[in-house]
Amino acid sequence: MFNLNVNRVEYQHEEDLKLIDYLREVLKLKGVKDGCAAGACGACSVIADGKLIRACIMKLSKLEGKKIITIEGLSERERDVYGYAFAKAGAVQCGFCIPGMVMAAKVLIDVNNNPARDEIKKAIRGNICRCTGYIKIIDAIEIAAELIRTGNEVPENTDTGAIGERTMRVDAIPKTIGTAKYADDYEVEGMVYGKAIRPPAARCKVLSIDPSKALEMDGVIGVYTADDIPGDRYIGHLQKDYPVMIAVGEETRFIGDAVALIVTETKEMLEEAAGAVEIEYEELPPVNNPFEAMKDDAPQIHGEGFKQFGSHYIPVNNVMSHQALKRGDVVAAFARSKYFSEHTFQVPFTEHAFMEPGSCSCHT
Ligand code: FES
Ligand code: FES
Repeated sequence: MFNLNVNRVEYQHEEDLKLIDYLREVLKLKGVKDGCAAGACGACSVIADGKLIRACIMKLSKLEGKKIITIEGLSERERDVYGYAFAKAGAVQCGFCIPGMVMAAKVLIDVNNNPARDEIKKAIRGNICRCTGYIKIIDAIEIAAELIRTGNEVPENTDTGAIGERTMRVDAIPKTIGTAKYADDYEVEGMVYGKAIRPPAARCKVLSIDPSKALEMDGVIGVYTADDIPGDRYIGHLQKDYPVMIAVGEETRFIGDAVALIVTETKEMLEEAAGAVEIEYEELPPVNNPFEAMKDDAPQIHGEGFKQFGSHYIPVNNVMSHQALKRGDVVAAFARSKYFSEHTFQVPFTEHAFMEPGSCSCHT
């Protein structure tokens, strides 16, 4: 039995769950966000005995007797202050990272209510924001610190919404204080759980899928494959060239492709049931970067010639499109230039967009 105090209430739990699962699934504290489940993003930040911790990598057994504060455990005054400060500074876009940022800010401001910007930067160094950037978040923490330091009342929102006026986002406060709901926060009566089964390597030919063992397990509702998708299987923004699931006989194109979907009655059994689906693959050499992909002898990941993607026929090869962006007379501008600077720019593997992982909840 594990004992801990969450938001000033004593709890006991028998199973040694990850803290994030205990908070989100057992106590239903959905303001604790799961951005990576791997200790990398800080979206799940909570406070344990005054220290910032990541709920996704801590188990209950490591927190025996600790006092945990989640975003839901902020006082009413703190909620008002942080909600106002983040909304006022324009620090909230998708908002998925913000409850974790607030917890990091609270750890700092609780011991130093007049922090320098460098101290704020240091306090949030483990919290990633992909869509707002950090300047406005630091501004927001300065506003919050000032309100807490001075004890001043939180100013009323006097926005009128008039054109040209700088207004707070309407959803900024609920996103800041963790009450806004994201796809993974919804729970409905009779909900079942799904998980995509993905290939073991980027480029694999799917040789066979045998769901029979998984289907015999109690609580498994179904195993679905490309054959179960009626109609158009291809989706995509620019080209509809992305199959929702890879069929037997086809090749996967990246490690995130879905080969099958398993649906179970409980979330806990998903992993085990997914492991019981027997899939045979032939692993093939991957195409690792755009330069390899453009070589003449590169495997054509969509096949060759014209191909039907759902209802569309498009020419396929590894180059999806070629675009040149020119503005003004580039040659003349170069001729007038005293200095040239040429660089190769590389971006990190992580997506440059919102922190919320791909998830959905479907209601029928
Ligand atoms: S660090 Fe815990 S969800 Fe990302
Ligand atoms: S607002 Fe920070 S990730 Fe979107």
